[in-house]
Amino acid sequence: MKVLALNGSPRKEGNTHKMILKVFEALETEGIETELVHVGGKVIRGCLSCYKCIERKDRKCATGNDMFNEIFEKMLGADGLLLASPTYFADITPELKAVIDRAGFVSRVNGQLFRHKVGAAVVSLRRGGGVHAYDSINHLYQICSMFIVGSTYWNLGFGGRTGDEVPNDKEGMDNMIDLGRSMAYLMKKLR
Ligand SMILES: Cc1cc2nc3c(=O)[nH]c(=O)nc-3n(C[C@H](O)[C@H](O)[C@H](O)COP(=O)(O)O)c2cc1C
Repeated sequence: MKVLALNGSPRKEGNTHKMILKVFEALETEGIETELVHVGGKVIRGCLSCYKCIERKDRKCATGNDMFNEIFEKMLGADGLLLASPTYFADITPELKAVIDRAGFVSRVNGQLFRHKVGAAVVSLRRGGGVHAYDSINHLYQICSMFIVGSTYWNLGFGGRTGDEVPNDKEGMDNMIDLGRSMAYLMKKLR
């Protein structure tokens, strides 16, 4: 069983990355394979609203000139999705939003390709707006017939400019461990 994480931060080793690694630690202890793909800072177009995916139904986005279809293949191959982002103006980063819009559409028009996968949202923030970003990710899972995993708090971690602060948020990091354990628990029950 495998969990794929997408990091919406352009900072490869920032706060969001550290939170993902904590969830991975718990997942790997439970024998779950993990993979991380950085989407932040990459060129990923938004949905062009061409609706060609509805005509073609070929499990692909018709905008094939960026890394989206490669990421989407990986999403299809995973049993669990961990979508993670820093908070940017009380929401997720534009790169992660572009993946969500296109993945949600292609999944749905091809017969709910994400059906019964497990999903969790992870968000880092400096001060405010994190729950709104967290909700943005969960909207994908809720419309794609997926099962959402929660934890002891909303899956948030507090960190600022250097990208090294989030380990100081003990409650946030403990929550990541609990989240990884719960994801593994649900995935094993579903298998
Ligand atoms: C463009 C931009 C917008 C941001 N907006 C918010 C915000 O609305 N609320 C907040 O708490 N932090 C905000 N932050 C801070 C980051 O969300 C926070 O430092 C986060 O932990 C960075 O994660 P990273 O190290 O993985 O990139 C913003 C940072 C940037 C660069």
